[in-house]
Amino acid sequence: MVAKQIWKTGLLVVLLISGCTSMSDRQMADKSLYERLGGKAGITAVVDDFVARVAADNRINGFFAKTDIPRLKSMLVDQICEASGGPCKYTGRDMKTAHRGMGVTNAAFDALVGDLVATLDKFKVGAREQKELLSVLGTMRADIVEK
Ligand code: HEM
Repeated sequence: MVAKQIWKTGLLVVLLISGCTSMSDRQMADKSLYERLGGKAGITAVVDDFVARVAADNRINGFFAKTDIPRLKSMLVDQICEASGGPCKYTGRDMKTAHRGMGVTNAAFDALVGDLVATLDKFKVGAREQKELLSVLGTMRADIVEK
């Protein structure tokens, strides 16, 4: 009888604990993409690694030969921070103006996105967060690709 009671109590504890775990998952799901990316610090770490990959990528680094890289990094951090629901304000040029006349191709755009995905994988950013971020950036393709 007592053993049965202990077993029941144990089961209740297990159920309560697993209930708590799924609640914290739910709370996580409610957070903005900005928070789930680790806030400004997380986004800055991603942008640093990503820009280093782009700089080492012979398929596309020619485009950035004359670019002020520290400025580009800070623009990207603000842009991703704002687009993911964070408190930043992007003050750079709109995507059409910033990329006008560069002749960015779909292949170049895909190469850059591939470099970003390699960074996101390295930082173990979840599949859901990757999908959300890439879908925001994907909407910019039409303004950036010219040929
Ligand atoms: C979703 C993809 C992209 C995003 C979010 C993005 C974002 C940006 C941002 C925020 C800037 C700074 C704008 C400013 O200076 O006011 C910029 C500049 C630049 N982007 Fe992109 N970009 C993307 C794709 C590309 C691609 C595919 C290329 C070429 C392969 C490229 C090449 C450049 C270059 C060279 C600059 C510097 C322009 C300059 O120095 O004046 N971008 N981009």
